[in-house]
Amino acid sequence: MNKPQIHSDAKTWEASPNNLEPFWMGFTPNRAFKQRPRMIARAKDMHYYDMAGRAILDGSAGLWCSNAGHCRDPIVAAIQKSAAELDFAPTFQYGHPKVFELASRLATMAPGDLNYAFFCNSGSEAADSALKIALAYQRVKGQASRTRLIGRERGYHGVNFGGISVGGMVGNRKMFGTMLAGVDHLPHTYNRKEQAYTKGEPDYGMHYADELERLVGLHDASTIAAVIVEPMAGSTGVLPPPKGYLKRLREICDKHGILLIFDEVITGFGRLGYAFAAERFGVIPDMITFAKGVTSGTVPMGGVMVRQGIYDAFMTGPDHAIELFHGYTYSGHPIAAAAGVATMDLYRDEKLFENARKLEGVWADAAMSLKGNPMIEDIRTLGLVAAFDMKVVEGSPGLRAYKAMENAFHDFGFLIRITADTIALSPPLMITENQIDEIFSDKMPKVLKSVA
Ligand SMILES: Cc1ncc(COP(=O)(O)O)c(C=O)c1O
Repeated sequence: MNKPQIHSDAKTWEASPNNLEPFWMGFTPNRAFKQRPRMIARAKDMHYYDMAGRAILDGSAGLWCSNAGHCRDPIVAAIQKSAAELDFAPTFQYGHPKVFELASRLATMAPGDLNYAFFCNSGSEAADSALKIALAYQRVKGQASRTRLIGRERGYHGVNFGGISVGGMVGNRKMFGTMLAGVDHLPHTYNRKEQAYTKGEPDYGMHYADELERLVGLHDASTIAAVIVEPMAGSTGVLPPPKGYLKRLREICDKHGILLIFDEVITGFGRLGYAFAAERFGVIPDMITFAKGVTSGTVPMGGVMVRQGIYDAFMTGPDHAIELFHGYTYSGHPIAAAAGVATMDLYRDEKLFENARKLEGVWADAAMSLKGNPMIEDIRTLGLVAAFDMKVVEGSPGLRAYKAMENAFHDFGFLIRITADTIALSPPLMITENQIDEIFSDKMPKVLKSVA
């Protein structure tokens, strides 16, 4: 590659889709990808299609986001209509109807008095927005000393500074995780010896929540603003919460006046069979972050559901004064909001959350049928999610899963998500029993055999 000189017309590289070099891909080994690209040309329902038109079964709803399936007609139509009718309108000091419609839909779906929606554009922004709202809330309540944020090992809350700091993924943290002071972490809840091959919530591990008491003992409750956890840790390999764990966290937070934030960027919108995991587990957090499934991945959008009492605490001072100094140019973007409303309609009309709930048992049994495969060391399932820990190639962590992903795509027409040596599956919620069978009786055994 020749380096560009001073003028852009001096660039000698080809400007075309075939020039893979200039795109620096995130969370991707760029050199390996560019040597053997996995290129996706289009999508419909449960499938992607590569450049040659070959169908690829989507085993991970894109990146845990295309919950309604791909290129669904009503969502496409809503996006097209909005793009032609209202391309952009500010939501600072102005508004447009779709964003209010979506907020009220979400407020209706969210449990308890999680009655307010704050919008942003991604899960990372949602996490940072929730953390900022927590800090601001404590301050407006006269508790400005509560600035500490508690996350969890093996948690993932996106890639912005707040989210990385409370997150618990070493790869993300080691370079950037030290920038925010006053953060601590709960231990993660996974214990293979006690929990291996569990369907749903493991019996063992509720006591990990009591570690919050230890942190309160160490730092004092008067310094702690909020705890943020994913109800089910997704990106670090699918860790369903132990039975009673989330309730216990809620109790300890209540006891000490600490806000509890559920990061539902993955677990929201039907992934666990309900609008939000909070409903499934019967625990109402003070805030829920969401993204991905809110538009079924079609248009970037994220947000935070907030309880009545938190919103009310800000609604003081003169009427003309801004209450929260936070927001993004594209908060509640009209096209995203239109996609969001159409997505909620589709979830409702096709009963997609119910479908996930109905299929959970079939899905879990089918996933567990791979127990005994020589490549597998543990399997975990919850809702329409399954994770497979693979044997690690000695001295080369991540290699086996990477090869599995390559082979799945190129040889078996199957798109999977990997994290370290774990394969995580989370298909669109429109999946059928036949397709579940195809995944676990055909595609997964072939993929595993190919990396044995
Ligand atoms: C729980 C959780 N929070 C936050 C994020 C970050 O979302 P985004 O990539 O949209 O910024 C993710 C992404 O996978 C996630 O799983």
